Amino acid sequence: MCGIIGYTGTQTNRNVVDVLSNGLSRLEYRGYDSAGIAVADPTVSVYKREGKLAALEEALPDEADDALAGIGHTRWSTHGPPSDENAHPHTDCDGKVATVHNGIIQNYQELRDELEANGHEFDSETDSEVIPHLIERALDQGASAGSAFRQAIGRLEGSYAVAAVFHGREEVYATRYQSPLVLGVDDGGTMLASDVPAFLEYTDQVVYLEDGQFAKIRPIGIEVRDGRGALVDVSVETVDWDPEDAGKSGYDHYMLKEIYEQPRSIRECLRGRLRPLEGSILIEELDDVPRPTEVHFVACGTSYHASLYAARLFRERGVRTTAFLASEYDVETVPIDEETLVVGVTQSGETADTLRALRTANGIGAQTLTVTNVVGSSAARETDHTMYIRAGPEIGVAATKTFASQQVSLAMLSSALTGECSREFVESLRALPDQIQSILDDSHADAVAEEFVHSDAYFFIGRDYGAPVALEGALKMKEISYKHAEGFAAGELKHGPLALVTERTPVFALVNGDSNTEKMLGNIKEVEARGAPVVAVSDDPDLVEAHAEHVLRIPETHWRFYPILANVQLQLVSYWVAHRLGRSIDKPRNLAKSVTVE
Ligand code: F6R
Repeated sequence: MCGIIGYTGTQTNRNVVDVLSNGLSRLEYRGYDSAGIAVADPTVSVYKREGKLAALEEALPDEADDALAGIGHTRWSTHGPPSDENAHPHTDCDGKVATVHNGIIQNYQELRDELEANGHEFDSETDSEVIPHLIERALDQGASAGSAFRQAIGRLEGSYAVAAVFHGREEVYATRYQSPLVLGVDDGGTMLASDVPAFLEYTDQVVYLEDGQFAKIRPIGIEVRDGRGALVDVSVETVDWDPEDAGKSGYDHYMLKEIYEQPRSIRECLRGRLRPLEGSILIEELDDVPRPTEVHFVACGTSYHASLYAARLFRERGVRTTAFLASEYDVETVPIDEETLVVGVTQSGETADTLRALRTANGIGAQTLTVTNVVGSSAARETDHTMYIRAGPEIGVAATKTFASQQVSLAMLSSALTGECSREFVESLRALPDQIQSILDDSHADAVAEEFVHSDAYFFIGRDYGAPVALEGALKMKEISYKHAEGFAAGELKHGPLALVTERTPVFALVNGDSNTEKMLGNIKEVEARGAPVVAVSDDPDLVEAHAEHVLRIPETHWRFYPILANVQLQLVSYWVAHRLGRSIDKPRNLAKSVTVE
């Protein structure tokens, strides 16, 4: 969703417009339909365009030597369609202050009516434009820049990250409430952004702003105050993401690079957490969390699929566990008490539905835990406990390496919290990175994709631990190829979906040599009898070869982990179908990386 960048600096070799443009291109992955920047010079100059950054680049000045500070924004439309007028930054009537906003202002209509009655004129249909006009009104009443900014923010209801520049001033003012904003500091300047990769090429020294705090970033140094105006002592943290991690490293797409990074990201995820000799798992940061009596997972999309997988693991270890779609989590109808452990699974740590569910659980006094990739994210800061999946930055909108790292993290979590583990379990986890590498080295998923690229639809079936990965395989296919795809627990096939199966709908079946094999083979025969081509993903080609047109092979592993391996083959099939269709793989239409509205 919308991305914010801001910069003010002292280094003459660092042009404000360049820093903002670079930052916006790093934020592209969040999804956007228009973009803009504003620089504070003796006046305030605004450049904004509907469409991609290339359109904005054409509008930018060759030189902006007078620029003192600047802000930039990628917009993902909510109020008003994509257009030059609705793009941010927005200004006040006199063009002396410019602001960018991420989030939703619920009381904007009331504020707009009030401001229009006071003679303010609006240029856009956005909720965000009330902010510069509120600041203008406070300035007209004699407030200083900082105080006008605080007064304006004090009128907003909703969620927001906001940054503002004022004419003739070299500071950027910013604040946040339930929307991400992080500050970056180095010797040559100070930055702010929705996400660390936006400025990672300049600095890895960050300050995570808390909800309700106000920051004034200066060319040298930052000042953070609480809502009452008192100075806050902030700590500068070092992020351990490498700028190279946020680049494409020669791959055509971030998604492919991230699929290939999985051996490394899983190694990182496992590092220091396995005790092979004892056959146990220790997650140090969760050492004080007792064995739960009941667990609720709350998550969306891919993270929900990882939660379905995890819920099964916990149930198998005797813990009453349910995975909920975060948007459907309603404590009025779900039995929950202080003994319940509510686990938010969220790559970004900023997904609005998941945050709402976690906040509701916090409000009831339940124990809360976040499993996330992003250090300092809202979910990580607001829950009682946090486990990091350590996948490194994921830029492709479609979650790939983070899904694998979520599954591995949750498998470890299920053992660490219940104490139930075995040497075989630990050894199998340890083997996963090399096994994934062997799949990546030998896969012929590209040939399978080529054969089925013009199919009418794609179906994915699995049982048991394989069922969530069937759902994930279909989600990946639909989001990046824009083709119809559905995932089912294989047992459900004959309760309806079978009606859709034809010779033009390949069925991807997850089969391994476990207790479900006979039933899976039965399902394969059902679809085969309707003429559908079958692609089996299996560790045992002999088992399935007679019924499948293709076998995508995976190494043998612990039966609980085979879906982690099978998913890699499914990721590759989706990638190559989308590639062959020329889709916008890293930034699929209508989708955003971080969904910060409910
Ligand atoms: C799909 C995908 C989404 C996210 C979902 C939740 O590839 O990425 O379905 O999984 O939007 O996002 P997080 O995990 O950041 O809460």
